[in-house]
Amino acid sequence: MRELQAVIGEEARQQMIDIAGGLPDVAFACVGGGSNAIGLFYPLLGDDIELIGVEAGGTGNGLGQNAATLATGTPGVLQGSYTIILQDDDGQVQETHSISAGLDYSGVGPEHALLQATGRVKYISATDDEALEALEELCASEGILTALETSHAFAAAKEYAKEHPGKRILIGNSGRGDKDMPTLTKYPARTRSHAGA
Ligand SMILES: Cc1ncc(COP(=O)(O)O)c(C=O)c1O
Repeated sequence: MRELQAVIGEEARQQMIDIAGGLPDVAFACVGGGSNAIGLFYPLLGDDIELIGVEAGGTGNGLGQNAATLATGTPGVLQGSYTIILQDDDGQVQETHSISAGLDYSGVGPEHALLQATGRVKYISATDDEALEALEELCASEGILTALETSHAFAAAKEYAKEHPGKRILIGNSGRGDKDMPTLTKYPARTRSHAGA
């Protein structure tokens, strides 16, 4: 059976071979509930490709300051799924914070919890500020207004690229940023020096 969301990874995998000259060394995707990331990762699981999911680091490490479920959460049940969730010591699910509405979620799809437990996928986080900076740099350098959610994946990929020059990097571009304009107008420009304009 063909899984619907996996079309993202199937097409991206083929495009990398056809256009970029080979499979990527590493693939990044942002993780809220986890659907775009699992769609990208699933067809790549059998390949020798490093897979990195990027959660919302928000404004800090404290409970309620982020939505970095896999990084800071504990096992529990949310909306019928046994997975990793952000909860207090009494098992009460906690509020989250992220600049991106789509990553602002206290749970994560259980398949990601499994992939973290087996070590096949690494999960890290990017903060609100890092996502904003990556978004602005992407607009200025590539003319791509990506979504604030997706900007978290770009922020992490940017750091990776600095540390691993020459690697072939695939980033799942989960959505457009037009919807984020009301949010973005509340923040001052920060990386104009990257624009070269
Ligand atoms: C553009 C975009 N990317 C990512 C997400 C995060 O969701 P998921 O992790 O399920 O792909 C959302 C959620 O609304 C979104 O709008």
